[in-house]
Amino acid sequence: MPPDGVVVQVEGLRKQYQQVRAVDGIGFEINEGEIFGIVGPNGAGKTTTVECIEGLRVPDQGTIRVLGLDPIKDRVQLRQKIGIQLQEGRLPDRLKVWEAMDLFHAFRATSSGWRHLLDDLGLADKAHAHFETLSGGQKQRLFVALSLLGNPRLVFFDELSTGLDPQARRATWELVRKVRDGGKTVVLVTHSMDEAEHLCDRVAILDHGKLLALDTPDNLIKGVFPSALKVSFQLDGDAEPPLLDKLGKVETNGRAVTVYGHSHGLIVEVVSLLVSSGIRFRQLTVDRMSLEDVFLHLTGKRVRD
Ligand SMILES: Nc1ncnc2c1ncn2[C@@H]1O[C@H](COP(=O)(O)OP(=O)(O)OP(=O)(O)O)[C@@H](O)[C@H]1O
Ligand SMILES: [Mg+2]
Repeated sequence: MPPDGVVVQVEGLRKQYQQVRAVDGIGFEINEGEIFGIVGPNGAGKTTTVECIEGLRVPDQGTIRVLGLDPIKDRVQLRQKIGIQLQEGRLPDRLKVWEAMDLFHAFRATSSGWRHLLDDLGLADKAHAHFETLSGGQKQRLFVALSLLGNPRLVFFDELSTGLDPQARRATWELVRKVRDGGKTVVLVTHSMDEAEHLCDRVAILDHGKLLALDTPDNLIKGVFPSALKVSFQLDGDAEPPLLDKLGKVETNGRAVTVYGHSHGLIVEVVSLLVSSGIRFRQLTVDRMSLEDVFLHLTGKRVRD
């Protein structure tokens, strides 16, 4: 039996497609009531991992327990306990919102209805709209509503906010928090480090089928960058970069300079040095290090959409 409060256990998971090692020996646990993020660039193995957990793909190796069940052997039972929003989900254009809810509801062995979900997700006035007439954000909300049919304990969202405008994206984040606050465990797959940092309680970073790191966003950032600060500026004119190395790691890119520091007084130290050296500068900014920076540090590359 899994320890109390653990809803998903994955050990030594491997999955290969021809020459591609999509998932290459991954293990982690997901706790009840958390928003668990799985992040990484395109092709990292995120969807393969969650679809093995959902029982939609058969692993080559490894053991998986979900709510105490085996996703393959206990597939039928498990399907009634989890909610799934698939990456690139589609419905027939002419299907109406209420028809979709009614149809999917019929597959669920549940007594709870579906109308309250349309209310909760702000889709009540769209009940008679055809799928094709919904905006991107409304389609996503419908997929969330469908995944919540039957009141599952554990829900999976794969690339929920990809392709949405920033406002709809924020609204989707609120929605995910609401689902979690309603007592469910949420597994959120995304290649947006920003989304993972702001929304997830814990984040697993995947690349090339391997788990690079797993912790809270704060701990991941602090673990790599203890002061979690960077000061950036542009050198004015043809000024020579001053000797900033003693303050921390320095990166220069043309006239742009970034100093990564280990001191809370970093900005004061940088400005003092520039001023005392008579170096003119502009566009000085201080930023907190982000999960994107952690990924860059771990892999030497940026995550791109
Ligand atoms: N059915 C399949 N047949 C062959 N190769 C596959 C299949 N599914 C995935 N792959 C390959 O396995 C690797 C991991 O794919 P996966 O879809 O798990 O990545 P992902 O992290 O979800 O990527 P994305 O961010 O693009 O959704 C990729 O190289 C992909 O091309
Ligand atoms: Mg994917």
